[in-house]
Amino acid sequence: MRSLIDILDLTTDEIEELIKVAGDIIENPAKYSEKCRGKKLASLFFEPSTRTRLSFEAAMYELGGNVIGFSEANSSSAAKGESVADTIRTVGYYADIIAMRHPKEGAPYVASLNCDIPVINAGDGGHNHPTQTLADLLTISREKGRFDNLVVGFCGDLKFGRTVHSLVGALSRYNNIKFVFISPDELHMPEYILEEIEKKGISYTETTDLEGAMPELDILYMTRVQRERFFNEADYIRLKDSYILTDAKLVNAKADLSIMHPLPRVNEISRSVDKDPRACYFKQVQNGKFIRMALILKLLEV
Ligand code: CP
Repeated sequence: MRSLIDILDLTTDEIEELIKVAGDIIENPAKYSEKCRGKKLASLFFEPSTRTRLSFEAAMYELGGNVIGFSEANSSSAAKGESVADTIRTVGYYADIIAMRHPKEGAPYVASLNCDIPVINAGDGGHNHPTQTLADLLTISREKGRFDNLVVGFCGDLKFGRTVHSLVGALSRYNNIKFVFISPDELHMPEYILEEIEKKGISYTETTDLEGAMPELDILYMTRVQRERFFNEADYIRLKDSYILTDAKLVNAKADLSIMHPLPRVNEISRSVDKDPRACYFKQVQNGKFIRMALILKLLEV
């Protein structure tokens, strides 16, 4: 039974196919409204979520299926000390597919080894978030019409930013991509990811200067400094407002820049930027549901 733990579990052809199906769902929703009749999605969120959890659940309902699950670890027997393996083995008897978020890196992989139904990683600690990447790729496809020949800037918490790690992996498979990593020194991209990029011969730069990087970017992917990943509150307070995107900081940006953010945001994009036609972050939210519908169909083979 096939799971999605890492975005690289999907080939580029499979991603193109998911994007095509998501586009068809957007155009012809009624065609898909009974596809998952009689199927159950287990939505297991051991860590908070708004977009990912609710878009998975909306996706399954719009496919005619049902949803069971929990939205916090404390309302499951994890609070009594049950292991991920035992929880998943149990859920595997009740559901047809699992979407799972967990604060520990690798937990969805462990889950996939302990049941006979597909497991979707809905975010594991500071590691990966492959379905956010699918939402991001659908958005890039609709905004830019290509994945090749792009300069992509990632700004903010690049150390713990699982959405960044997954999207960098996905875009690394396309031609003539350049990455610009914009972060405070303490939150720079993990070395293991930089080594992977270097091995593939992909061009990248690291900087602390958002405005300096702005003019060359085709995509600016802003991220939140994540309080929940810090061991020390003082470090979070010191770094949390390192980058705040304002209209003034966009004066030298390309006219067709795409401003992206996986959300939730705190302060890192000024509310006034929401009115900029280049702001795409709420399109990512909308696209998330459609691409997750396509993914559920693929993994359930319906
Ligand atoms: N982008 C994202 O994962 O948002 P949520 O934490 O609200 O699910």
